[in-house]
Amino acid sequence: MDLKREILRLKEEKNAIILAHNYQTSEIQEIADFIGDSLELARAATKTKADVIVFCGVDFMAETAATLNPDKLVLIPSMDARCPMAVQLPPEKVREAKKSGCPFVIYVNSYATSKAEADICCTSANAAKVVEAIESETVMLGPDANLAWFAARKTGKKVIAVPSHGYCYVHKVFRIEDIKAARQRYPDAEIIVHPECDPDVQMAADFVGSTSQMYRYAKESDAERIVVGTEIGLIERMRREIEGKEFVPLRQSVCIEMKLNTLERIHDVLLNEKNVVKIDEEVAKKARKAIERMLEVV
Ligand code: 13P
Ligand code: SF4
Repeated sequence: MDLKREILRLKEEKNAIILAHNYQTSEIQEIADFIGDSLELARAATKTKADVIVFCGVDFMAETAATLNPDKLVLIPSMDARCPMAVQLPPEKVREAKKSGCPFVIYVNSYATSKAEADICCTSANAAKVVEAIESETVMLGPDANLAWFAARKTGKKVIAVPSHGYCYVHKVFRIEDIKAARQRYPDAEIIVHPECDPDVQMAADFVGSTSQMYRYAKESDAERIVVGTEIGLIERMRREIEGKEFVPLRQSVCIEMKLNTLERIHDVLLNEKNVVKIDEEVAKKARKAIERMLEVV
């Protein structure tokens, strides 16, 4: 069976749309209706007229789509595609932290139950703008401590990371030594990294941004060689879509959970309408507020 063709046929038949994150494999990105970062995918989920959304990403992203679309069928190809960062901030932790009276900005890389307890959501693309928009000189942000550091650096506000050491294992591997080695080996190259990287890595890079911001920076840059500090899926997309430039991984790093989605699984969930992502209506109502507040700011 030609899987790609069969998926496209089912997509037509069921009025479905395939949303894919920048870290998905090339074969998935090639059949997607839309490829983007977390913010772009959340927006795409609010705009679609499709009845079914097949969300090729990790659990919190599909949850966000389901939270924003209670009347649509949201399917995730692999139920095991669970972001290990999201579990680092359970709802009790947000509730406990909020007793301080300080506003809580929740990174989209979290579960709906935790978002429901927070004041406003953010993604890596808009964390600084969201923090800037809050009328308080001190805010809390979690679960990623490096993103909290990034938002503090950009805004000059005090941003308290909750938990204090929340992290992404895919971005933790990048080291300042990798940047030094890349500068020596490729003196003409630009180095771009994601804000989930450690502060010293961010400080030494030429640009820090979300996956789609990195993509656009790479496309518009005059540099012929760009060293990229993030998950390999984005680098593969750059190589596929941006001609005349060389893209070098700062270090090979793979998000295993993102790679659990496959063409076979997309076909299976679409055919059998399984792996439905459903959010409890009470939770969804509160989580939606935090996400919609973010979408109003940026
Ligand atoms: P982006 O929102 O930048 O695509 O990042 C999502 C993510 O999971 C990064 O690890
Ligand atoms: Fe989660 Fe990191 Fe994978 Fe992004 S790259 S989905 S933050 S584990």
